[in-house]
Amino acid sequence: MSAQEDQKTGGLSRRDFLKLMGAAGTGLAFAPFVPWGNFMPNPSSAALEKVPVELPDGSHANINNYPINHAEVITYPKTGDRVLDEEAFRKWQFIRLPEELGGDRQDVTAFRAYSMVCLHLWCLWKYWPNEGRKRGECPCHGSMYDPLTGIAFIGPASLQAPPANVLPQLSFEADTDGALWIAPPVWGVNQNGVVGFGRYIK
Ligand code: FES
Repeated sequence: MSAQEDQKTGGLSRRDFLKLMGAAGTGLAFAPFVPWGNFMPNPSSAALEKVPVELPDGSHANINNYPINHAEVITYPKTGDRVLDEEAFRKWQFIRLPEELGGDRQDVTAFRAYSMVCLHLWCLWKYWPNEGRKRGECPCHGSMYDPLTGIAFIGPASLQAPPANVLPQLSFEADTDGALWIAPPVWGVNQNGVVGFGRYIK
């Protein structure tokens, strides 16, 4: 830990600090690390609007044509600022589940969006659709994530105590045309989770 980080966290290790703040159950836990204020004037505000699930090609994701067993990187929340939008904490794996996990359903239950920030040491994991994989894998130390639940089931992240073994997720809504929208999240461990920290499974 750098001297600067040490100063910010009052001498606690980063992980201890995060655990402490997570225990406080507040999305503001990451205030020292993430410039929430740059894009969320009030992170606890219920005034956040639902926004389209925007794919990397700029199109609006739709239940009727998004492939089964497929993932793309989406950015949330978007600011319009190219540099800010590249932050790891805004990156999510938008997954349509494989058929055997319900990916063929024509509703929002076929979809997941999990934070790409691995719960171990914050590398970026991704979904692998290949036969025999069909799971999230982190390239750094081998943590693997269940696409159905976001639970780490192998590797160092799987050994961490809840909520640090379950990925934060976004919630969806669909309109009558099948277009998918991200519902305003609540950044708390008992709701959508806290990016880089985790989520309790209800
Ligand atoms: S950072 Fe992902 S397994 Fe260590």
